[in-house]
Amino acid sequence: MDEWTPAIIFNSGVLAHAIAAADQFGVFEELDRADSLNMRLQDYAEQDRSFVRHTLELLAIVEVVIEVDTDVWTKGAMFDQYAAMKGFFSWLFAGSGAALVYAAHPAKSSRGTDPVRRESGIIARSTGDFGKAMLDPVVASFPEVAGANKVADLGCGDASRLIHIRRECGAAGLGVDLSSEAVERARANILSTGYRQEIEVTVADVRVLSRTTLDPDVDTVTCCLMGHDLWPRPTCVSSLREIRAAFPNADRLVLLETVRAETAKRVTDGIPSLGYEYLHEAMGQYIPGLDEWLEVLPDGGWRVDRVVPVSVPSSTYAFICMRLEI
Ligand SMILES: C[S@@+](CC[C@H](N)C(=O)[O-])C[C@H]1O[C@@H](n2cnc3c(N)ncnc32)[C@H](O)[C@@H]1O
Repeated sequence: MDEWTPAIIFNSGVLAHAIAAADQFGVFEELDRADSLNMRLQDYAEQDRSFVRHTLELLAIVEVVIEVDTDVWTKGAMFDQYAAMKGFFSWLFAGSGAALVYAAHPAKSSRGTDPVRRESGIIARSTGDFGKAMLDPVVASFPEVAGANKVADLGCGDASRLIHIRRECGAAGLGVDLSSEAVERARANILSTGYRQEIEVTVADVRVLSRTTLDPDVDTVTCCLMGHDLWPRPTCVSSLREIRAAFPNADRLVLLETVRAETAKRVTDGIPSLGYEYLHEAMGQYIPGLDEWLEVLPDGGWRVDRVVPVSVPSSTYAFICMRLEI
């Protein structure tokens, strides 16, 4: 334990925030676009330059970037590793930062009672970002999705998964999300990929889905990284039944979810378990374990056909389910 000095832990927190900030300021995108070219600080708005420079100096500590000339930066040896994971940093420190601030404020925290102020647009973009490499190919590889005619993606975020499924498998898509900011981002993404006719997105609450949505063409439902938003358990059971009612001809559901980790917490745990559980505890939101999902899905009218572990994010599983005749 000697190596985890208070200074290292404190400084890691600062660096983690700086990675999220750099992502929000487009540093990773810009360096990727420029590739072997250099990124120049003068391209940033004047009022941001000093902060972006400071952020870059922090990233240079862990070799994400290197300053090759005054105010001219290029990729460092660790760039690709951090670029692949930056979405997790943005999700926690940029998208959910306000929830963490209020959680540590006894007089202002309102665990479980008020909607917590999170940045839904940033969250949608961040999960879409790490999902592109880690989840989209996994979901599209399941025969239930690969053979679908129309997929409804619940909690669709920025719709990157539906776009990937359309491109790789040819299925039409319907995205549903509670957040209008997420739906706005999804619409912009869909427009930019030219799938306006094939993928539609709408603001709706999965917990009462059948009040707003009825689509007999949907044969496959996906729901990634939002199943925990349907808890507590009775709400989850009724939401799973709502999905059946909204999509009467959907006979399969792929629910992909990060579950409560079963092992003791360690500083070396994979991303995002420690942050995921801490954040949801901070918001007073319950994270179900693997066994709880295996029990609740049949109660909601979905038989679990198989469970496929996903290596990153940590403690994440895909539950491939079939409609139960009830
Ligand atoms: C962690 S993000 C995951 C987004 C996307 N599925 C992905 O994998 O990248 C969870 C999403 O679920 C949405 N969400 C949460 N509760 C919801 C509800 N009751 N109905 C519809 N969408 C919901 C949030 O607005 C957010 O966009």
